[in-house]
Amino acid sequence: MNIFDIQLMKSKNQKISMTTCYDYWSARIINESKIHLVLVGDSAANVIHGHNSTIPIDTDTMCIHISAVTKGCPDKFIIGDLPFLSYRKDLTFNMTQVEKIIKAGAHAVKLEGADGNINFIEHCVKSGVPVMGHLGLTPQSIHQMGGFRVQGRHQEQAKLIKEQALALEKAGCFSLVLECVPSPLATEITNSLSIPTIGIGAGPDTDGQVLVMHDLLGINGDFKPKFLRKFLNGKELLLQAFNEYHDSVINKSFPSIEESYE
Ligand code: KIV
Repeated sequence: MNIFDIQLMKSKNQKISMTTCYDYWSARIINESKIHLVLVGDSAANVIHGHNSTIPIDTDTMCIHISAVTKGCPDKFIIGDLPFLSYRKDLTFNMTQVEKIIKAGAHAVKLEGADGNINFIEHCVKSGVPVMGHLGLTPQSIHQMGGFRVQGRHQEQAKLIKEQALALEKAGCFSLVLECVPSPLATEITNSLSIPTIGIGAGPDTDGQVLVMHDLLGINGDFKPKFLRKFLNGKELLLQAFNEYHDSVINKSFPSIEESYE
């Protein structure tokens, strides 16, 4: 899979699947799966490090996750998130962050928003680095947005997101994540772009879908946004395994003779 295969999938009307991943063992399982694209997202800040936003994670921490995922996922196209403010300083600083992410093993970078990013995206693309855009709910701007809420409900905001999408395509992005926007807006944007859109909370008509791995596996029992489908009851299954192990230790059924050295 490369950026041209992804483009081809849009032209053939084939849906694209993407999940996030942050560690080596999950990456090995995903590598055996049919999933097309793997995003080492800055959502690692939430699901791995326990923060309540993506803001605290830095490039070096992202690179640790990217390096683990690329070792476990040698057959997948891997996108690494550029974290909060890591691409909003001067060009030398920004390109150093890109260099770290790509040298850690990612094939492409993802960044949030369009305003103020266009020259930087053009520079990345001209430097041989594929860029995935991200519009709608952009979690790195959570304080500016006043919380995690659907974006583009009002006409003016919807118009702005559409203009930004076109600007990202023009700047050279090879695809675009649309997060938490009304379905009709996502459909309109998807139909106006030649690059594929990957939706999360953006309805069924985007060219692909992305879910955070821990969310689709149902690890966080309390996280129930409207857009999320849990494809596994992960929390219950893990809890059951931990408790069965605990009980086996307490009732002395583990380890058995067969599980012990003579
Ligand atoms: O970091 C992340 O997990 C993301 C996805 C939600 C698209 O950016």
